Amino acid sequence: MMKLTLADLTALKHQQQKITMITAYDAPSARFADTAGIDMILVGDSAAMTVFGYEQTTAITLEDMLVLARAARRGTSRALLVGDMPFGSVQLSDVDTVGNAIRYIKDAGVDAVKIEGAGPMVRRIGAVIDAGIPVVGHIGLTPQTVNQLGGYKPQGRTAAAAERLVEEAGALERAGCVAIVLEAIPQPVAASITRALTIPTIGIGAGAECDGQVLVWHDLLGLTSGHVPKFVKQYAALGPEIVKAIEAYIADVQSGRFPEARHTYTMPDDERARFETHHK
Ligand code: KIV
Repeated sequence: MMKLTLADLTALKHQQQKITMITAYDAPSARFADTAGIDMILVGDSAAMTVFGYEQTTAITLEDMLVLARAARRGTSRALLVGDMPFGSVQLSDVDTVGNAIRYIKDAGVDAVKIEGAGPMVRRIGAVIDAGIPVVGHIGLTPQTVNQLGGYKPQGRTAAAAERLVEEAGALERAGCVAIVLEAIPQPVAASITRALTIPTIGIGAGAECDGQVLVWHDLLGLTSGHVPKFVKQYAALGPEIVKAIEAYIADVQSGRFPEARHTYTMPDDERARFETHHK
């Protein structure tokens, strides 16, 4: 199985072949996604909610992310692995941000990092790229600044806001990003950005004309409870299946149906006899 390269991503865009991305936060999940033939695995800071149970992504630390990314690395062979730079790891200074991105490369072996934001963040993203680290941009609904955005709302729904997104995407491409995630923006805006850029756009709630799509592991597989965003398509309902399996296990243990003889170990008859002379 040939490992994908960042150059392959751009080639996919130019061949008009869709790019697929999913989040994963551990080795077995990454292995499942890789086996299915996914192009990109994102160790997203959505892990703050999906894995750690926080209310917002801002709570997760770089140390948390590195643990998850190292695990996902061990499960990934073909796909490109992208590590999300969490809130706090890119806010302080260019030097601090570059240092944190280097940790991602050295400690977790990711192929690229993802950094939310544009505007004042473009220069900082440029500093990471200048240090030789590939960066995936992320604009539109950027969960790390959800309070400034006024909640988990679609972005770019006025002509002026849409124009701003087009400008931000252009600035990120000029800064050297290898791809850009477009989150929760109207389809015509994402389509226009996708046509204008030479690098791929990866949409989530941004319509079918993006060069690729990303979904969160727990959303795609039906492992969440409560509100499911409009842009999610659930391909399975594993949450209820898991509950059902654990209920069956509890019932089996409580009733004595598990374990059966085939689930345990035997010993040679002479050893058993010797043992039982002392322990009957
Ligand atoms: O953290 C994440 O999972 C993400 C995706 C939604 C793109 O940023």
